[in-house]
Amino acid sequence: MERIDKVISVALNVSRNDAKSLIRKRLVTVNGLVVTDIGKKVDEKCDELFCDGKRVSYNKFVYIMMNKPKGVISASEGGSEKTVVDILPEDMKRKNLFPAGRLDRDTTGFMLITDDGEFAHRILSPKNHIPKTYIATLDKPFDDEVIKAFENGIELKNDSCMPAKIKALDENNLVAQVTIKQGMYHQIKRMFAKFGLTVVELERIKMGALELDRSLACGECRYIAQEEISLIKIAEF
Ligand code: URA
Repeated sequence: MERIDKVISVALNVSRNDAKSLIRKRLVTVNGLVVTDIGKKVDEKCDELFCDGKRVSYNKFVYIMMNKPKGVISASEGGSEKTVVDILPEDMKRKNLFPAGRLDRDTTGFMLITDDGEFAHRILSPKNHIPKTYIATLDKPFDDEVIKAFENGIELKNDSCMPAKIKALDENNLVAQVTIKQGMYHQIKRMFAKFGLTVVELERIKMGALELDRSLACGECRYIAQEEISLIKIAEF
């Protein structure tokens, strides 16, 4: 059983306050009866919910996009360290949430947090070729040798990198947009390090075809709508 304001907020991708206001406006029904109690509990398996005449289908799982700040680790439990799950707003916290994939402590940007293990596995498995795109700021310019090597796939100590895409975002070749299909430990940093380059800033801007929502300030998050979920699964490179 779940509180109705929470269900409406997740299903319609609106804030908890907006969900409460829809209920107060008597726009929400459960099994044909107008809801007046914003704290009413509903059963996801059998109750039928409508909002403003439209069926509300609520999902078993939640998918959250966070603009990860620096200084937090991508884990669900970090002991003395703050995790991305710790910094979720209280009304988004629920059992079993975990980050789908790893970003280093000092990497910022698109972090997907979910409680859907199967989905996370699907988008992270290198077999499924879901691209992840980053902006890397370097200490020194990269050259054609780096571009060619990234595009052909490079060998790292104990790891083979699949072909990656790279393009310069500035005239000096100091800022690179890089797309990879794996998520190996420190992968982007290690790929550049092979050519003597240090990544000084790293931000993930895209998973699959879904871009980081630029209206999210560092540390902020929002629910990902159902139609956006299918964008994450797009494997085109
Ligand atoms: N590659 C890295 O080196 N670090 C990240 O956080 C993600 C990809």
